[in-house]
Amino acid sequence: MMENNLRSILLRASTEVWALGHFNISNLEQLRAIVNVGVSLQAPLHIGTSEGERHFIGLKQAVHMVRAFREETGIPIFLNADHSKSVEEARAAVDAGYDSVHVDLSAMSFEENVRGTQELVKYAKSKNPDISIEGELGYFRGKSEVQKEIIEIKPEDLTNIDQAKEFVERTQVDRLAPVVGNIHGIAANEPKLDIDLIKKLHKELPNTILVLHGGSGIPDDQMKEAAKSGISNIHVNTEIRLAYTNALREVIKNKPDETTPYKLFPDVISAVEDKVKEKLLIFGSLNKI
Ligand code: G3H
Ligand code: ZN
Repeated sequence: MMENNLRSILLRASTEVWALGHFNISNLEQLRAIVNVGVSLQAPLHIGTSEGERHFIGLKQAVHMVRAFREETGIPIFLNADHSKSVEEARAAVDAGYDSVHVDLSAMSFEENVRGTQELVKYAKSKNPDISIEGELGYFRGKSEVQKEIIEIKPEDLTNIDQAKEFVERTQVDRLAPVVGNIHGIAANEPKLDIDLIKKLHKELPNTILVLHGGSGIPDDQMKEAAKSGISNIHVNTEIRLAYTNALREVIKNKPDETTPYKLFPDVISAVEDKVKEKLLIFGSLNKI
């Protein structure tokens, strides 16, 4: 019987060279779609809520929705407080019962980032020793939407290897989100991941889970290469949002007289399922339960 807590799953992903899929949600329909695919492919799941997403759903509500699906399906599903931009926001997620917290103080100075992340790690682990904490280092561009402009990444945006080592050593985070040529959302230009930098970070930080943010818009071959080179956790949001909203617009256009929500949403759920399935096949996380 395999151990199926978040730590052991991420460790397994890292040693077996596949990546745990992290998908952001704003509501129950998206969560249901993601879980349906996790069940049919027997894939563990990481569900994310940004600050905006979790304030819309409600922190407690998000925790209980995920818990209900975990209990009902028996598959390992974990809830992450994605991009918590302050220690206070991150603490609130710990208090609400999140399984995983991403404290993103990357906009602050290196010292402030280290100190805030350290503080959160101590607080979170004292409340829940099993919780998994992620920190972030580097300058991350873009946002989780379709952006019309070209987004260029400057060399100084990328995560510095020596700083990453010092950051992990001092904060004791379980996971690190580096900037390795990735951006949030879909830009007018195609992203180019720095695979060499991923390999070097993985070599220097073999016990830290490397997280690839900005999974939307990255070509499949680059994503596969990243998973082979040391990335064990991949975040996708924009492509899920697009699948959901495009399908919803279409359904409403095609069924102008339908007013029963549960009759409108099956097609929307199915569009999100297709997108999640496509990504899990790339990440190689099938039959990992
Ligand atoms: O934390 C969320 C992800 O990094 C999502 O990025 O919108 O480019 O898929 P994305
Ligand atoms: Zn992100």
